[in-house]
Amino acid sequence: MGEECQLRVLGLIGGTGLDDWGGETLVHDISSDYGQASGDVAEYPLGDLKILFMPRHGPAHSIAPHAVNYRANIDVLRKAGVDAIVAVNAVGGISEHCRPGTIHVPDQLIDYTWGRKHSFSLNADDHLQHIEFAEPFGGNLRKRIINAGPQSGVRLTEGGCLAVCQGPRLETAAEIRRLQKDGADLVGMTSMPEAALAREAGVDYASICVVANRAAGLGDEPVSMDAIDTTLKHAMVNVRTLLHALVKDLSSAD
Ligand code: HPA
Repeated sequence: MGEECQLRVLGLIGGTGLDDWGGETLVHDISSDYGQASGDVAEYPLGDLKILFMPRHGPAHSIAPHAVNYRANIDVLRKAGVDAIVAVNAVGGISEHCRPGTIHVPDQLIDYTWGRKHSFSLNADDHLQHIEFAEPFGGNLRKRIINAGPQSGVRLTEGGCLAVCQGPRLETAAEIRRLQKDGADLVGMTSMPEAALAREAGVDYASICVVANRAAGLGDEPVSMDAIDTTLKHAMVNVRTLLHALVKDLSSAD
């Protein structure tokens, strides 16, 4: 028995390549004081567990990373009663082992984003919080995802530092060299402020990063969106297998 046993409602934020979970579902239209969320929350009962799915970029994949209303998305999931959130993020690979199609469960991040509404405490009359964030993915859910890897037969890499850039453009080769020097293994656009807002909301948050491409300047060819789409299409099959194993593991934990 442990704290993980209490997890009964799992939030799932799907990113590029995972805009829906598929199948029959209940849909919840939950309003937020922080504006419009990316979409309705779709509910999928899976074993003893309920998955509440939020498409980060909207149902038609039309919302750019800098334009996502991260506050509303986290607020809506919090209101829907999630115990923890697993986020799926498409990323570029910087370190050698971060090859297209590989799956990583990062333990660190560096935030390079700017101009996003990055906190629930933006105004003078908001409840002010200075969250502890030394381990941005430091909760129990991350460990459960790592355990689900061998159970699912899906290979994943534990740990790594994710650089979160502003987008929507991809980086320059010089920017990637700088991120390399900063110690980043992976580069994405959507984990911040999502991870920090989840911490402010008191919800355990972990990320499954799927490498869509070698980061700018590191591959043999320029990054191509067609190649990214093809890689993600194949890799998301593994992500779904991994998530099913995670859900099975979480539902049998009591
Ligand atoms: N950079 C930033 N975000 C990304 C990339 C990338 O190369 N690929 C997929 N998301």
